[in-house]
Amino acid sequence: MSVGNQRRLEPVLRQPATAEEAELFAALDLGRLPRHVAIIMDGNGRWAKRRGYAARIFGHRAGTEAVRAATRTAAELRLSGLTLYAFSKENWSRPAREVNALMDLLDEYLVKEVPELMENDVRLVASGNLGDLREKTRRILDSTMEKTAGNGGLVLNLALSYGARAEIARAVRRAMEMARSGELSPEELTPEVFGQMLDHPELGDPDLLVRTSGEMRVSNFLLWQIAYSEFVVMDVLWPDFRRPDFFRALLDYQRRDRRFGGVGPE
Ligand code: FPP
Repeated sequence: MSVGNQRRLEPVLRQPATAEEAELFAALDLGRLPRHVAIIMDGNGRWAKRRGYAARIFGHRAGTEAVRAATRTAAELRLSGLTLYAFSKENWSRPAREVNALMDLLDEYLVKEVPELMENDVRLVASGNLGDLREKTRRILDSTMEKTAGNGGLVLNLALSYGARAEIARAVRRAMEMARSGELSPEELTPEVFGQMLDHPELGDPDLLVRTSGEMRVSNFLLWQIAYSEFVVMDVLWPDFRRPDFFRALLDYQRRDRRFGGVGPE
């Protein structure tokens, strides 16, 4: 089943809009919104430093507000999927204090966010090496995914202990096991079949990849799935990312001429 092809209700701004937001919203072509948006949430550390906090975790905590705002906006716009790079495999090498604080923050978010997710009809899923997470976090994550499993609106995909190379290696292993058991022959392994072995293929490939804080790197995120995604890099630091920034990213996306390697309409 692909959720990517379903266009549901008309986008409506549920939260009151400022004049700036209303103007940006009016400029959007609502018939040409991306279905799946992926975001590399960067700049939490710089946000904390600029405010004089010694610990990056202040930026991560503020970043949770931006996660909430982005999820609401994506739900309001009736997007099918929103994938957020919340914790990479490489992030485990950060100081233990920061890693523990991030996991505590994730636990808190996953518990407190349930009413908000329910209200916005959001289904939570996760990608990555979830077995790396501590047991408590795993349990809370499973519980929130279970509670929201019946929601039919936006799918919010949190990438946790995520690395694209590891995801691809896991999928290759799966394909090899299937070949060994005779379920799949090497000739049957097309890009389409392989794509189905990655995490949450039902989301479809992201149409738009956003990175905040101005860095021009992909950082081992969704390497297979972003083959034809439009890439928008924004100067805003992640904790400051709000609805107008989301709208600006979408407007930038809508100015692109997506040709998927072809020539497009003559
Ligand atoms: C990068 O900022 C961001 C992260 C490593 C973690 C992202 C986490 C959150 C936004 C909050 C928690 C998420 C959820 C879903 C509750 P950085 O520290 O690398 O920033 P810097 O490059 O400015 O130092």
